[in-house]
Amino acid sequence: MTDTAWGITIGYSAVTIIGVAVALIVMRSTRVGFRVNVASRETLEKREGYWGVAVVTFLVAVIGGTIFQIPYWSDNSSAKTPQSIAITGRQFAWTLDPPRVKAGLETRIEVRAVDVNHAIGIYDPGGTLIKQVNVLPGVVQTIVLTFDRAGVYKVRCLEFCGVDHHLMENDLEVTG
Ligand code: CUA
Repeated sequence: MTDTAWGITIGYSAVTIIGVAVALIVMRSTRVGFRVNVASRETLEKREGYWGVAVVTFLVAVIGGTIFQIPYWSDNSSAKTPQSIAITGRQFAWTLDPPRVKAGLETRIEVRAVDVNHAIGIYDPGGTLIKQVNVLPGVVQTIVLTFDRAGVYKVRCLEFCGVDHHLMENDLEVTG
């Protein structure tokens, strides 16, 4: 399991145990003969204040501790990827610039469409689809992936884009 999965598992387990404990205490308190110390109104109000501070502190701590881990701010800019390809789709072919990349390196792929909607499918040398994304005119789709073995990969169009849609198949050469 990943760290996140462990975190969620442990977190939920803890919450469940606390919930069950609270339920048992509440259940016990409804028994006849259960004695409660009746606190004064001021004491109760004071406790309520402390409780509020505790909750807010807890929430701020949780947000502060996790907010920088959200994926939206993750940097996949070209500066960090060792190689990149620009792929352009048009009726009825893909243009790959460059058409050759190295295996084992993180690759940034920017895909554009210049006319109508296409969808790009990247197939490994064994014919397995390893990446698929829709490509709309005016939108640059960025994919970051690593080609883990050398060979001829296929780039195909997966959205019907006109009479010669089936011709939209190009090679991407991955060298070792
Ligand atoms: Cu492009 Cu189908």
